[in-house]
Amino acid sequence: MAFEKVSTILKDADARKTAVLAYDCFNYESIAWLVEAGEELSIPVIIMLYPTMMETIPASVFAAITKKMAKTVKIPVGLHLDHCDSYETILGAIRDGFTSVMIDGSKLEYNENVRVTCEIVKAAHALGIDVEAELGKVGIAANKGDFKNEDMYTTAEQAADFVAKTNVDSLAIAIGSAHGWYVETPKLSMPRLKEINKAIDTPLVLHGGTGIPEDQLRESFKLGINKLNVGTEYFALFYSTTKDYQQVKDKKDSLFAMQGYQKKVIKDYLLNKLKWTIPEKKASR
Ligand code: 13P
Repeated sequence: MAFEKVSTILKDADARKTAVLAYDCFNYESIAWLVEAGEELSIPVIIMLYPTMMETIPASVFAAITKKMAKTVKIPVGLHLDHCDSYETILGAIRDGFTSVMIDGSKLEYNENVRVTCEIVKAAHALGIDVEAELGKVGIAANKGDFKNEDMYTTAEQAADFVAKTNVDSLAIAIGSAHGWYVETPKLSMPRLKEINKAIDTPLVLHGGTGIPEDQLRESFKLGINKLNVGTEYFALFYSTTKDYQQVKDKKDSLFAMQGYQKKVIKDYLLNKLKWTIPEKKASR
């Protein structure tokens, strides 16, 4: 199976009434350990690159690592450019090997969001590349108003109109999540999610996956979320493990010993989180 189109991965997740975890990655280890964890559980994964990370790792190198890793496993592995509002950067990423991109026009007025999204879809689809867009506003989790204010949420009517006009392959929606660390536990609007999922067949994406409780995520996967984006908690774990290692009893003062410790902690985290996408079996009587 190995390297796969994100649209194919998401259609399969939709058929299984679950989501695929999509992580913002930034180096070899963050890609490789996610692919390894997915393979251990036979669960597909999506590797994402945030455009500003291209200052740290060139998109072509990132794409090459992902494709090489994908060749070593049986699970489907997708590659996606996260949040991008630049036509040039998106086309550059496609040139560099990305097979799925996000055009984020959510800060724009509705008709302008439709226009820029159509522009990307036209170019990307001609090249066989998948496109994710965003409708509604997924703000910053440090601002309560950004995820509690229902005026910012996506409406089913607009989602239907947007998808019909743009023909996107997946749609990121606002239903009560936000990016970064939440100042208060979020409460996703399941009724809104149900309405949107009823109105469109397009796979739905939830951003701001850091810190949303497991029960809410599982419920959202059942109700139509097919891709969950996670970044902040993954970055934080890489950082905290480098510090925590200093407290490990009998630690070896060696970079490679530290990396071994880091890999164990991060793989355990990933193995646990990936399991959230396995639909729970109803208890049999
Ligand atoms: P978090 O950083 O809150 O996990 O969100 C990531 C995200 O949505 C990337 O698109």
